[in-house]
Amino acid sequence: MVSGPGRPCLPAPGTVRGIRGPGDAATRRWVAPPHARILGRMRIDFDPEAMGRTPFYKLLTSVVVPRPIAWVATVSANGTANLAPHSFFTVASVAPPIVQFTSVGRKDSLRNVEDTGEFVVNFAPEGLFEQINATATDFPHGVSEFEAVGVAQEASARVKPPRVAGAPVALECVVHSTLGLGDATVVFGRVVHAAIDEEVLVDGHAEITRLRPLARLGKDEWGTVGDVRELARVRYADWEGERPGKG
Ligand SMILES: Cc1cc2nc3c(=O)[nH]c(=O)nc-3n(C[C@H](O)[C@H](O)[C@H](O)COP(=O)(O)O)c2cc1C
Repeated sequence: MVSGPGRPCLPAPGTVRGIRGPGDAATRRWVAPPHARILGRMRIDFDPEAMGRTPFYKLLTSVVVPRPIAWVATVSANGTANLAPHSFFTVASVAPPIVQFTSVGRKDSLRNVEDTGEFVVNFAPEGLFEQINATATDFPHGVSEFEAVGVAQEASARVKPPRVAGAPVALECVVHSTLGLGDATVVFGRVVHAAIDEEVLVDGHAEITRLRPLARLGKDEWGTVGDVRELARVRYADWEGERPGKG
């Protein structure tokens, strides 16, 4: 690697991050995989088509980080409660308030939301780290992760799937729609009720240092909240920098 004052680390000529080349731990170089093309000295481009599904999935999930984790509770048509983490998760719209998670492939959570039309997004606090991971085990359909892992539950206010008792935030949702994308299905849910532990609220605002959410990173990595900074958005009327195109 080449680095210097005011200069980012650059790969030494002929070496870029990619797949592991030959050599022992000390001398091992990173060499470009065949699907990667060097753009100048700083960037490598990757072709999803050439790489194929799994390698590109690994790349994508290592750069789209950190991802919040929706710990999704559902019930099956015969009433068995199910719980599984989903990090392909975000807010989809404001009015109506809709959140979304993605099932990659067909899993029990997806089957249950299709059958019953309801789910609860529980937020994943640091303290429940091992439990959250354990509920990602591919238990057979009909086995409740709440019971198998020993996750305490409580009744929801507006929907049948239970909340995780230890989760500081629970969003109770009614399925709005689903969208098939290849082998994945995006589930959109209208939030009909939010239940938030009063301990995390300060003047009605969920305080990040009290929420302590876990996030999903690449590979098997998990993250916690690091440094938190505040910076208000600047209105154009107050903009003190260049105003291109404004003569
Ligand atoms: C932190 C974490 C995040 C995950 N995110 C997703 C996801 O976004 N979509 C998905 O389909 N599976 C995801 N998984 C894998 C599922 O949780 C796993 O396949 C689980 O067994 C599905 O359970 P179910 O069959 O009860 O729905 C994730 C696993 C972990 C540990």
